[in-house]
Amino acid sequence: MTDDRSGLEIAEYFARLAPTYGAGEYYRKRRAAVLDALVARGRQFPRLLDLGCGNGTYLAAFRTRLDPDFLAGADLSLGMLAAAKRRSAADLLVACDAHVLPFKSAVWNGVFCSHLLQFIADLPRCLREIARCLSDGGTLIIAGGEFGTAERLKQMLGDARWSAFRSELPRPRGSHRHRTLEDYRDAATAAGFTVEARRIPFNCTAADLAEFYRVRWLPLVAPEPRAAMSTALDELMRAHGGEEIAMEEALLLCHKGSVDAGNLSGF
Ligand SMILES: C[S@@+](CC[C@H](N)C(=O)[O-])C[C@H]1O[C@@H](n2cnc3c(N)ncnc32)[C@H](O)[C@@H]1O
Repeated sequence: MTDDRSGLEIAEYFARLAPTYGAGEYYRKRRAAVLDALVARGRQFPRLLDLGCGNGTYLAAFRTRLDPDFLAGADLSLGMLAAAKRRSAADLLVACDAHVLPFKSAVWNGVFCSHLLQFIADLPRCLREIARCLSDGGTLIIAGGEFGTAERLKQMLGDARWSAFRSELPRPRGSHRHRTLEDYRDAATAAGFTVEARRIPFNCTAADLAEFYRVRWLPLVAPEPRAAMSTALDELMRAHGGEEIAMEEALLLCHKGSVDAGNLSGF
């Protein structure tokens, strides 16, 4: 369970990102790749919850691409939820901690968690809660886990510049960024899910990656290091801007209850 202090810190951290999180080409291409993969699967989620929905960029995409009958978002950060409300995509927005879900059992056909689980203190408890709220045959979709963006930036900036850059990237207390996809897979299996792992490829440019760092990280950095980091990103743009970079988003599809073998293929 998130303790009060780290919960508050995480909520405040993300409230500062509420105006910008998910903006720009890198995020757009990553979301599009995930959405394409879900749509291609043809699986329907009439009642869909985006847990850790942030400012609602996925909610807006779900509304247009998946068209669920009932779409809800839940998040710890009131700032993020206020931004999600402005997108007007969800039927319901709920402020809650993902360790204790304020939903009846078996109400959702799909629960989507994108880049949430690294902020969860008690992963087994959170996954048990999600399993409780999913209907039999429902699916938990976990996106994220291994990002690859830091490695790419390191290659382009060089070791010394990257390590100065990285030392300025603020993370909230209670972030478990070293968890791997295997950690999530093992925890979901232990919570009773049947897990499929998929890697979703997408391409971006070095310019998109530089923009991602501006959007995701620079709003959180103090003014002085921010100016130096911004200069480093400008130089990277000049040297590499149009270069294509192959990226991957990891997806874990975690099925609850009896699974039709036909549902496990074609994704
Ligand atoms: C990295 S952002 C991802 C936002 C969104 N899922 C996306 O991919 O665009 C993580 C989100 O999880 C939320 N979060 C972190 N810990 C949480 C918790 N214990 N319960 C609910 N939401 C939480 C944060 O407030 C933030 O909005």
